[in-house]
Amino acid sequence: MKQFHGRVAVITGAASGIGRGLAEQCAAEGMRIVLADIEEAALAQVAAELRAEGAQTITVQCDVAKPDDTEMLAQRAYDLFGAVHLLFNNAGVGGGSTIWESTPADWEWVMGVNLYGVVNSLRAFVPRLLAQPDESHIVNTASIYGLINGPGSGIYKASKFAAVAVSETLYHELAQRTTKVRVSVLCPGFVATRIQDADRNRPPALQNAAPRRAPTAQESAWSQMTGRRIGLGQTPRAHAEAVFEAIRADRFYILPHPEWLPALRARMERMLDEALPANLLDSLPPE
Ligand code: NAI
Repeated sequence: MKQFHGRVAVITGAASGIGRGLAEQCAAEGMRIVLADIEEAALAQVAAELRAEGAQTITVQCDVAKPDDTEMLAQRAYDLFGAVHLLFNNAGVGGGSTIWESTPADWEWVMGVNLYGVVNSLRAFVPRLLAQPDESHIVNTASIYGLINGPGSGIYKASKFAAVAVSETLYHELAQRTTKVRVSVLCPGFVATRIQDADRNRPPALQNAAPRRAPTAQESAWSQMTGRRIGLGQTPRAHAEAVFEAIRADRFYILPHPEWLPALRARMERMLDEALPANLLDSLPPE
C-alpha cells in the first residue's frame, strides 16, 4: 500500500510505546484511526493529544485476549468507517520466569495477549478485509525474540515465535486467495517503551497466588541489561516511520534493527549445521 491519506487504521496496544508511535505516524499520514487498548485512561490521553493535532480518532477499550472484544473492535471500526486499510496487531506483554518455573497463569496471560490476541484479531478482521473492495495491509508485531533464542523470557519468545508462524502461514493462505490483503510481520529489536512495566495490565484473575522467588544474579543482570537497552532504544516515532516505509515497499519481514541480523544468521547457520543452539547473548550488539 502506498496511499494512506483519508484511509482507516486500527491499532491494538495504541495507548503506549510502539502502538502510540504508529498512531502518531497514522495521524501524520492523514489517516482516520481506531485506537484500541486495555488501558482506558492512557488510551483517552493519546486520543486527546492526537485530536488536538487535528486527527480523526475513536477509542475502543478492549482486551485482545478475549475473542468477543476483538469482534466488538472490528464491528465498531466497520460501523463507523465502513472499511479498514491498515491493521496493526501490536498489543503485547512480557512476564514469567524460567521455562520450568513459569506458572500456568504466566503462560495464560502472555500467550493470551501476544498469540491469541493476534489470532483473535485476525479471526475478527480478515473476513471483513476479504469482503471489502479496498486494499488492506495487516502488520503483526512479533519481535526479534520471535526469530532468535537464548536464556530467559521463555513464554515471551514462545509467543513471538508463534506469532511469526501465524503470520507466515497467513501470508501463504492470503496469497492463494487474493492480492488485495497483504500481511507483514514486524520483528523489532529495542524500542524505548513501557514493555518492562507490562504487569500494569495483568488481569487480577491471572496474577500468581504465591510471590516469585528472588531473581538470581544472572537473571537480575539480564533484566537490567534489557531495561537499559530498551531505555536507549529507538524512539517509537522513528520506529513507526521505518514500519511505514516497509509497508510502502510491501516487505513481509520487517526487521527495523539490522544490528540483530548477525544473531539471526548465527541461529540459522547452526540449525542447518545441526549444531547446538546459538545463544543470542553471544551475538548481542554492543551497548
Ligand atoms: P508498551 O507496554 O509500551 O505498550 C503495549 C501496549 O499494549 C500498552 O498500551 C498496553 O496497555 C497494551 N496492552 C497490554 N495488554 C493488552 C491487552 N490484553 N489488550 C489490549 N491491549 C493491551 O510496550 P511496547 O514495547 O510498545 O509493546 C508493543 C509491542 O511491541 C508488543 O507486542 C511487544 O512485544 C513488541 N515489541 C517491543 C519491543 C521493545 O523493545 N519495546 C521489541 C520487540 C517487540
